[in-house]
Amino acid sequence: MPGFQAPVGTRDVLPPESTRWERLIALFARRAERSGYGLVVSPMFEDIGVFERVGEATDVVRKEMYDFEDKGGRRMALRPEGTASVVRAWVQHRPTLPFKAWYAAPSFRYERPQAGRYRQHHQLGVEALGTDDADLDVEVIALAWGLYADVGLGAVRLLLNSLGDATCRPAYLDALRAYLTEHRGELCDEHKARLEANPLRVLDCKRESCMRVTEGAPRMVDHLCDECAAHFSRVREGLGELDIPFELAPRLVRGLDYYTRTTFEFQAPALESAQNGIGGGGRYDALTEQLGGPPTPGIGFGIGIERVLLACDAEGVFPAPPAAVAVFVVDVTGSVALRLVEELREAGVGADRAFDRRSMKAQFKLADRSGARLAVVVGPDELERGIAKLQSLTGDDKEEEDVKLEELVERVRARLGPA
Ligand code: HAM
Repeated sequence: MPGFQAPVGTRDVLPPESTRWERLIALFARRAERSGYGLVVSPMFEDIGVFERVGEATDVVRKEMYDFEDKGGRRMALRPEGTASVVRAWVQHRPTLPFKAWYAAPSFRYERPQAGRYRQHHQLGVEALGTDDADLDVEVIALAWGLYADVGLGAVRLLLNSLGDATCRPAYLDALRAYLTEHRGELCDEHKARLEANPLRVLDCKRESCMRVTEGAPRMVDHLCDECAAHFSRVREGLGELDIPFELAPRLVRGLDYYTRTTFEFQAPALESAQNGIGGGGRYDALTEQLGGPPTPGIGFGIGIERVLLACDAEGVFPAPPAAVAVFVVDVTGSVALRLVEELREAGVGADRAFDRRSMKAQFKLADRSGARLAVVVGPDELERGIAKLQSLTGDDKEEEDVKLEELVERVRARLGPA
């Protein structure tokens, strides 16, 4: 019988690739915490209503949601994105404002799998609730921008737009609807049928026919009310103050319904255009109310871990680090390895060993494979003299020395140098 495989559209992440994940998440955590964001861990599934609110007209919610009835007859869904969960958590617990949260979590979308598009992907994200100050928009964008710089990505494009608010968007939607209705015959079949429900979705359509039509469509930025225009202007000015280059993208509406005002997307030109979005986000000043809370503005982003790493591969940066331990204990007597590796580990030195009483030769093979820089070798002779042989495994430092077992940790540390 053939063995089981990971489900279609999902991936196992094994070492050394997983070490890259760890480092990327750690870089993000440090950056977010330096900016005052705290970790939020929320359930991987929610009442389906939480997600229905965020995108009734979107593919993410209409077509791609992993929804199910649990054994108690409740309609649930696996989280397709992180924002709704964090906002639901804020509405439920009402921590003080401003509330600044970061997360690193899986999301689930029943998509057609391809390189960079998975049914389970992982996002690094932040959500900041409690103010509509445009400086916060800039702070949030700068945080993502900084992470791309941390990993060494050199060619990230930032696309920027404003989607207005409840004051100015209705009139814009009317203008857009009128324009699209005039060109209905030229739209793709899906949007011919659905343009009334949410004409903004047509701007997001990647099909050639719709893209040709929307090229000449009215633009939200030309219809912003005074307040939204001033807000957007301050965001652009702030990005300029921080030397973050951006391109205006009047058709950028993003694939979720909750956005108001600032929206943005980060693209990696080295990736295929259908999957080159390595991050995206924006404001959602009406979402807390839609989820049953008091009116509270918010903004955030999500960065796809898989896509960032694909972009790193394409640019040849942020390589998977070589294997981990610093020391390998080769114990032919079978009597000291257990204690020695523990002593080394307790002292903060990465150490590993062989099991099953292998021969010296077999143990050295494992030692080489482990990537360790030093071998601690104990044979019957050494055991009798209460010493170990310390020898380099990398070839760059041939010196072999005898070390008393009680001085081993100290000597190993000295040989390894500062971590
Ligand atoms: P999103 O643009 O749908 O936004 O997803 C954020 C990022 O997740 C994308 O830019 C992409 O890098 C990655 N991503 C999305 N879907 C997939 C997939 N199927 N496979 C691999 N990677 C994927 C959101 O989810 C919003 N919650 C972002 C946000 C936070 N807006 C405000 N706050």
